[in-house]
Amino acid sequence: MKIEKLRVNHLENPLGFAVCPLSFSWIVTDADGSRQRWARIRVAESCPYHASMAEESFWEQAEILFDSGEDADADSMDYPVSLDLRPRTGYLWEVTVMADNGESASATGCFETGKMDEPWSGQWISPKMEEKSENASQQAEDANQVSTILAKKFLVDEPLEISSGAARLYICGLGVYECWINGEKVGEEYLAPGYHSYDFHLQAQTYDVAPYLKAGENEICIWLGEGWFKGRLGFDGGFTDIYGDRLYAIAELYVKNEQGEKLAVRTDDTWESRVSPITFNNIYDGEVYDARRESWSASLTENPTGNLLEDDEKILSEPAGISGYGAVELAAPERCGALTDRYGLPIVKKESFAVKEMIHTPKDETVLDFGQEITGWVEIDCDFPEGTKITLSAGEILQNDCFYRENLRTAKAEFTYISNGKRALARPHFTFYGFRYMKVECDVSVRADQFTAWHLRSDFDQIGQIETGNAKVNQLFSNALWGQKDNFLDVPTDCPQRDERLGWTGDAQVFSETACYNMYMPAFYRKYLWDMRAEQSILGGSVPNVVPRLKQGMVAEHGSCPWADAGVIIPWNVYQHYGSKTLLAETYPGMKAWVDCQRKREESIEGPHLVKDGFHFADWLALDNEQPGPFGATDPLYIASAYYYRCADIVAQSAQILGYEEAEEYRNLAEAIKKAIRENYFDDNGLCKCETQTGSAIAICFGLTDALDCAGKAAGAASEEVGEKSQLDGKTREGDALEARVKANNDHLNTGFVGTTMLCPALTATGHNDTAVTLLLNEDFPSWLYSVNLGATTIWERWDSVGPDGTISAEGMNSLNHYSYGSIEAWMYGYVCGIRPAEPGFRRAILEPHPGQRLHFVKGKLETPMGLYESSWSCDESGKVTYTFTVPFGAEAELRLPDGRTKVLTAGKWVF
Ligand code: BGC
Repeated sequence: MKIEKLRVNHLENPLGFAVCPLSFSWIVTDADGSRQRWARIRVAESCPYHASMAEESFWEQAEILFDSGEDADADSMDYPVSLDLRPRTGYLWEVTVMADNGESASATGCFETGKMDEPWSGQWISPKMEEKSENASQQAEDANQVSTILAKKFLVDEPLEISSGAARLYICGLGVYECWINGEKVGEEYLAPGYHSYDFHLQAQTYDVAPYLKAGENEICIWLGEGWFKGRLGFDGGFTDIYGDRLYAIAELYVKNEQGEKLAVRTDDTWESRVSPITFNNIYDGEVYDARRESWSASLTENPTGNLLEDDEKILSEPAGISGYGAVELAAPERCGALTDRYGLPIVKKESFAVKEMIHTPKDETVLDFGQEITGWVEIDCDFPEGTKITLSAGEILQNDCFYRENLRTAKAEFTYISNGKRALARPHFTFYGFRYMKVECDVSVRADQFTAWHLRSDFDQIGQIETGNAKVNQLFSNALWGQKDNFLDVPTDCPQRDERLGWTGDAQVFSETACYNMYMPAFYRKYLWDMRAEQSILGGSVPNVVPRLKQGMVAEHGSCPWADAGVIIPWNVYQHYGSKTLLAETYPGMKAWVDCQRKREESIEGPHLVKDGFHFADWLALDNEQPGPFGATDPLYIASAYYYRCADIVAQSAQILGYEEAEEYRNLAEAIKKAIRENYFDDNGLCKCETQTGSAIAICFGLTDALDCAGKAAGAASEEVGEKSQLDGKTREGDALEARVKANNDHLNTGFVGTTMLCPALTATGHNDTAVTLLLNEDFPSWLYSVNLGATTIWERWDSVGPDGTISAEGMNSLNHYSYGSIEAWMYGYVCGIRPAEPGFRRAILEPHPGQRLHFVKGKLETPMGLYESSWSCDESGKVTYTFTVPFGAEAELRLPDGRTKVLTAGKWVF
């Protein structure tokens, strides 16, 4: 028996993250027993800083801050502990689990707080802006507006034990920063501090910097770029300086030894600002890096590309009007929230790709094909003569065998590097790209092996995997997975390539269930939902269309269905998948605020209990509308009312789970909304009057058809008196109508963002799984495999983003890396493999596979917070199906086989 995945607030051994309220979780593996008899959790302070794992004797000597004793109710998914944590302090925690068969195991994890609310002794600094002459203001422009380096030399007098973890850096830089100490980049993360709602908080990072320090003189350099904070952001040209109009940094570096702790350096007005080799940068357009300028900002031994400056004397002359070194001034970001410990996961390199093919196009271009559309950048092994310029331009698709990037709209998406004649691994610092292809323009010839593409995203990992007997379906699975990998770079973006890359709440909402199946997402969403609640706080509870919000007037603002419903649906999916009540309680105020906002509005216009007005994206990009444009045919006010019901119902359930009295109030509200929807949108036969695929799919998935009486009339508030049979009848009738609509459309879908998420689940749940599988396996337009056949490696924004001849269909709004339609994966997990949560966190699961000859076999795996579930089936030629299942320790599953057999499965492996 082993204990693994010890997590604190969903993070393994977190350093400097916001950990209040504190909650522990763990997973038991390799156990012979099937459930926990008790668990014991102990917490103690560790010394110094972060725990280098506890020695045997630690717990005997430690001052124990918390000891649960043998707790029979200990919840392995969410064990909240109330402790007065101290800032900048390391803690160890140990969990011991005793199983029902008497075997036991223990494991230890650690966590360390950041600054919490301790006042900073470091001061915010910014390059000094001098406005003496035109030239000088140009200089300030150059030093401050584009990129700059803030630097300071400092002494460390005690020899440090490099591995002791005895030095800490607390830091934040705005727009984005990289910190370098003695010529080495600190930490593995890029684009820190990430993109968050800066108006409400500024997330600081904590790094272990012992490995970079040495006794004697050291140098710290903070490289600053524009990022989301002040660089160009937003479509139609966008805006600059949205969150701030200067570059800033704040830092404190502490060194600890046996004598105690010492502040070795902090930001103040004795720092200097240096001209950066980065002469241009922003998120959309890319970066220009002139390595010849490195010498003006040279560090002691190395420069930031990692190459040694062999001859420091050979300093290039500084261009007129630019001085390499300048002063800083104390200046704190205005209009921003307070510094907080980080919520956001670090953005890190996750996978690398070599050039698959170096293409010479008919237009005489050199184009690198990396074989997979990714988000990140390309690293160039530069070994060029001084002054050589190389430019990479990003693109998603070739057109007529040539490079193409018009669908990126105004985003230039370039990286230019000018060599100083020294070998260097060049890469951008303050931008990222969504690309499969890179066009290379270079003064000298290049080789494929000089380029490596790196996929960057927030540091979360895959927990789900599905393989089927159909290679194209497997490619579709991979494409949807990449849709997620590529669009979860600190915020769930709509797309990673064009002049947008914003946290659109609608896209995030419809994909959130799939996202929770694919990857371990609670910490990522915790941060997104923190920002969402903050934004709601000044919008009367309404949820903006993008989070973090661009400022007023920049985007049609907030309250649009089903974008705003992200405020309820995402936290609910997170709770269903990861089972953390602590997190549900944290997110609940935002959920409730959105429902209250809707209620207030409908009451003010005498609703009654329906959404009667407002702008709604609704079934965005559906194909069923005869009117040209992006809006689907399903009545947006029906969709908005249905979501209003769904959200009120979720708030009622959440309040109940959290033990809040208001549960009943929201239950009544939900029932009243449902009744009103039935009266307005359902006919006497109990069928939805919005006669579209999406209309029916919503009715089924949101339970609007439940509890209809046999004549099909709405039973409304009397729902409890209506029996099981008639509930099925309502659903079945709507399911039949849905299937008929699919058949009438030549067995094809025509749904948009809303309907696509629900279509296959609605069909399968009403006994029409065969039709759902047909939709999955269709290969002609519109279908999922249509894009697979055209070579897609991600999910497209539109069903027809690319025409059958490979021509991109529109340039205005047409990304090849939008994940919404990838939401089919939730159906694949939940219905094809049949793994669904019966209780939050899969403490109890439903295993209800839907086998069929057309897929031959399916192997599904899901690493839930309880541990690993597996559900696989294979059909032989005679049609005989073999099922295998795995249920993790401590869990139970309700098996439902298609032939009607049911059984409760306990932990272990099962074959049928
Ligand atoms: C984005 C979407 C978004 C939509 C809403 C588009 O430009 O890419 O996916 O949700 O706008 O209008």
